[in-house]
Amino acid sequence: MSDQASRLRNLLEERAEAEALARKVGSLPFGTAQGTRVIAITSGKGGVGKTNLAVNLSVALQLSGQRVMLIDADIGMANVNLLMGAVTRRSLIDLLTDGVKLEDVVENGAAGVKYISGAAGVEAAWNLNRGEQRKLHKKLGRCSEMADIIIIDTGAGLNRNVVEFVLAAEEVLLITTPEPTALADAYAVVKAYATYTDRRNIKLIVNRIHDEDECDAVADKINQTTQKFLGVSVDCLGYIYEDRAVIDAVHRQEPFVLSAPNSSAARCVFEIARGLLIGDKMASVAKGWRAFLDRLFGY
Ligand SMILES: Nc1ncnc2c1ncn2[C@@H]1O[C@H](COP(=O)(O)OP(=O)(O)O)[C@@H](O)[C@H]1O
Ligand SMILES: [Mg+2]
Repeated sequence: MSDQASRLRNLLEERAEAEALARKVGSLPFGTAQGTRVIAITSGKGGVGKTNLAVNLSVALQLSGQRVMLIDADIGMANVNLLMGAVTRRSLIDLLTDGVKLEDVVENGAAGVKYISGAAGVEAAWNLNRGEQRKLHKKLGRCSEMADIIIIDTGAGLNRNVVEFVLAAEEVLLITTPEPTALADAYAVVKAYATYTDRRNIKLIVNRIHDEDECDAVADKINQTTQKFLGVSVDCLGYIYEDRAVIDAVHRQEPFVLSAPNSSAARCVFEIARGLLIGDKMASVAKGWRAFLDRLFGY
């Protein structure tokens, strides 16, 4: 693991060097002057809402005028394409084939979000030889020309693939539900992250809450533990209400920010997007009409 961490640090240093060089000669191969933001979405426990957040946040950011690319890196559970309601012809690993260009594996998703399917390819990526890694690295490098923000949907837990992606990303959104098991697993992710990197840019999203107090309680619980045992605190970027609209949208294979933009879940995701762009604390989201109906009909 420490090997992996140092390899990643080297990669990041190489990239920083290249950017500094590029600035000197007046051309930037890595996106805009500020650089493309890379945001990994991860969780300790599976099934807590990573893919739904990844897809809907990508669409929300795209609607806010950003060019967004979403990379599905959840091995075995790669399902961004399902939630996008789109068919994927190729995946990341096809880039290893000579003549396959980045454009060939990039699909157009909802609202113009670009996405790359992970399929089973990503797992193999870490078993590649140096030449293959270089090829992938080179071809993927141009993603930053296509996007202002790259969102990576990682798998859950602390297996190697997930940790690599999380460590490589400059920003991490850690999603959890209020369930005790999800919290314990989220803590384990913070711990791993605190052990392998000095960067402190991991932010919490609490999904499937019933009221704002529940979000505060979850954030407090996590922070008490991380402060006590790791000496770090984790800011809470936002929350998403438990919302029938999410489940309906999954069934219809549509992002809920498009199919139900007024749902409480969608308004929460728009707030999270705003928080990422403006750096603001999430404003309070009233649960609205759908919640009224949910209560009324005893959902
Ligand atoms: N805010 C929410 N309200 C209601 N159901 C949700 C919510 N978030 C997630 N779900 C349910 O949880 C399931 C798993 O979500 P998903 O995004 O696929 O999780 P992960 O990618 O972490 O495995 C969804 O298909 C949906 O049924
Ligand atoms: Mg998923």
